[in-house]
Amino acid sequence: MESRLVYQPFDRVEADAVAIVLCEEEPAPAELKFASPWLEDLRASGEFVGKSDELAVLHQPQGLAAKRLAVVGGGKRVSYDSAVLRKAVSSAVRKLKQKGVKTLAWWLASGDPEAAVEGAYLGNFEPDRYKTSSDAKPLEAFYVVAAANGAALEQAVERGRILAESQNFTRELVNEPANRMTPMRLAERARAMAAESGLECEVLDQDRMRQLGMGSLLGVAQGSAEPPALIIVRYQPATPSKSADHLALVGKGVTFDTGGVSIKPAEGMEKMKYDMAGGAAVLGAMRALAQLKPSIPVTALVPAVENMVGGRAQRPGDIVTSLSGKTIEVLNTDAEGRLILVDALTYAQRLGCTHLVDAATLTGAIVVALGHVNVGAFTNNEELLGRVMASAKAEGEKMWHMPLDDEYKDLLKSPFADLGNIGGRWGGAVSAAWFLREFVGETPWVHLDIAGTAWLDESKPHMAKGSTGVCVRTFTKLAMGW
Ligand code: BES
Ligand code: ZN
Ligand code: ZN
Repeated sequence: MESRLVYQPFDRVEADAVAIVLCEEEPAPAELKFASPWLEDLRASGEFVGKSDELAVLHQPQGLAAKRLAVVGGGKRVSYDSAVLRKAVSSAVRKLKQKGVKTLAWWLASGDPEAAVEGAYLGNFEPDRYKTSSDAKPLEAFYVVAAANGAALEQAVERGRILAESQNFTRELVNEPANRMTPMRLAERARAMAAESGLECEVLDQDRMRQLGMGSLLGVAQGSAEPPALIIVRYQPATPSKSADHLALVGKGVTFDTGGVSIKPAEGMEKMKYDMAGGAAVLGAMRALAQLKPSIPVTALVPAVENMVGGRAQRPGDIVTSLSGKTIEVLNTDAEGRLILVDALTYAQRLGCTHLVDAATLTGAIVVALGHVNVGAFTNNEELLGRVMASAKAEGEKMWHMPLDDEYKDLLKSPFADLGNIGGRWGGAVSAAWFLREFVGETPWVHLDIAGTAWLDESKPHMAKGSTGVCVRTFTKLAMGW
């Protein structure tokens, strides 16, 4: 799809449809005077009153060059913001493309053009890659109608495209089934993305990880016939900044999680292909950053493994030695995400990263705690968390600050090793986060548990079923605002 600004009066824009947001109880703008009887009827009948996700379409609108006029509900004016606009555009795109609209012009009377463009790309995405006959009818062009020419507007439209295309890149990776997205294939996709984007990419293989002593990561990988990979993608600013700050984005890359010997129930196991959503999110963010060029160096690390059952798989009770030197008793092989992440976090510190942010589909417990609405955010550093949360808010991604009191730490005690890899039934998302914290020391760190937010079980008006691409925009914003 292409997206661009058009500088034309709204009635002159040629497109299959021209759309505008109307909030509840809001009078239509003067430009829509010709349509007021229609709008009054819609409101009187309750067919369209301006609520979110409402859409009404008028064919052959009098005096407009476009073939249709679409009015899109914006909800209550007081709560109308970029997040509402992004969703309004994407749900309108999802409905209008099904009606055969190929070119859509958006008349932005108020609101952020960047969010509007993002909404268009996100709404245009369908998980139909492997359908040999698909009834999806994608939009071909999205125009933002602007009254006057402006460089700032142009840039906003461009930023929106880059961010949403990168988020869709992540969504593609996550939707891939595990037979087509093994750790090595994920590494190849990262390499190809880096080459296209002008980023450096290095992949540590099993031998290299053995030499380095990544026993915790390798213990998870050993049950699979698919070799593991530690994917590293680097962005270096052209003019180095004066500060020594270096951001690491670390993402869990379990291409399939059977649970291992502590095997998962069959029901719903097919979804465990999304257990690499954190890894895919950091790769998507790197793709965006390569184009937007922040002033801080950013290194992405994705420990990629498949967690399988088999004759070589690790057993409950096995003790592994992590890269940090700490020993871990593997009490449950299904708590594998933390085992691969800690070696990646230690390695990030060895690479000189000063700030660590990780994203992981880490626990079912975070889904119990926060459902599918908020990402769970944990930290050892309130300032870094503040930056992450502010970036998330600006990008319309909901996050909730979770506790990490010292009392929870005791849950991880093991009689045989430095720590065990599970903390018992209660507070599971917190003990998982504490496990990671034990390895980052004093380095500022934020952990985002995205198990509840990286996947949609059913399509929403604004987004197709499957992978959501959560955290791509937040991570990009975080680096851009540094
Ligand atoms: N990948 C899962 C977490 C998960 C659950 C992600 C549901 C998405 C949806 C993780 O590896 C896992 O299995 N965690 C266990 C930990 C437990 C054994 C301590 C869990 O949450 O049940
Ligand atoms: Zn697991
Ligand atoms: Zn997992």
